[in-house]
Amino acid sequence: MSKKIFSGVQPTGNLHLGNYLGAIKNFVELNNDKQNDCIFCVVDLHAITVKQDRDQLKNNIRETAATFIASGIDPAKSIIFNQSKVQAHSEGSWMLSCIAPMGWLNRMTQFKEKAGKDKEKASVGLYIYPILMASDILLYDTTHVPVGEDQKQHLELTRDIAQKFNKDFNCADFLKVPEPLIKKNFSRIMSLKDGSKKMSKSDPSDLSRINLTDSKDQIVNKIKRAKTDSFPIPNEEQKLNGRPEAENLLGIYSSISNQSMEKTLSQFGGKNFSDFKAQLAEILSNKISPISDEIKKLLNDKQYLDKALLEGARKAEEIAGKKIEEIKRIIGF
Ligand code: AMP
Ligand code: TRP
Repeated sequence: MSKKIFSGVQPTGNLHLGNYLGAIKNFVELNNDKQNDCIFCVVDLHAITVKQDRDQLKNNIRETAATFIASGIDPAKSIIFNQSKVQAHSEGSWMLSCIAPMGWLNRMTQFKEKAGKDKEKASVGLYIYPILMASDILLYDTTHVPVGEDQKQHLELTRDIAQKFNKDFNCADFLKVPEPLIKKNFSRIMSLKDGSKKMSKSDPSDLSRINLTDSKDQIVNKIKRAKTDSFPIPNEEQKLNGRPEAENLLGIYSSISNQSMEKTLSQFGGKNFSDFKAQLAEILSNKISPISDEIKKLLNDKQYLDKALLEGARKAEEIAGKKIEEIKRIIGF
């Protein structure tokens, strides 16, 4: 059976190796399978849940779309668009926010992390962010959602909202309950400076992440300076327990070279980190540099990018517009 795939990435700049290995690399694999219908969305409405600079937001929307295409997503095969161009996302979000109880939202750990200590000052948008995400997914009868580990809870909420809608309005199976597609291994890439924190766009230290726009020299330098420990690389996975930085770097190597951790350990077990780091930097720059070059090339052709996004929005609108009309009819409008 063909899968209906939907996923989104926020245009908040600094797309990094965590986004690539946790999400975008999987998008490309799904795009390449002829059986799948894929939609990849630049979720600009999500981005404004925290303050954005207008010009930067515009650039970041193009840069995120360019990153999708440069990584190997074909806009002729998959739909690529930005969320704010399709009204149904906002409309659906309102209607679903009248279905979802506050108690469910109060459990969301990402809100707690992002809002920080002073929750009273966080925007209401940041609080209801997962409902907009549910709207994104449910408008397209999505069957599968590829994301990194950090989005698991939001997907569970999406499933709960779909089921509650179907029950409240007595319309079994109307909203399709989607399955998460989260890679078992390496779905959470950690900071290069602190193995207990996830690699993040908003980390103030640029040395904590490999950006998809980094040059070869920057990648080599960042890997050289990445935190490790003073023990050699072990031969067995179990021995990585309690060594988060070592585990992260070896995980990155395994993920980028599409091999198991076991294989990586058999290659490097017993060696010290300097040999390993040189090889890691090499394989990373071999994979990332062509993407980075292509992003730059695409960003010089704004007309092409804008046209691709507009064409994607037209196709998305056709699907989501129909679904939102059905939702309205079911509600009683
Ligand atoms: P965001 O940048 O928050 O819009 O995230 C876009 C996608 O990248 C989502 O599927 C996230 O789960 C994934 N992602 C973000 N950071 C990481 C990370 N450090 N490791 C793995 N996946 C990540
Ligand atoms: N919340 C997701 C993130 O920050 C982005 C997102 C928005 C998304 N809508 C989505 C992901 C729909 C998958 C499906 O990573």
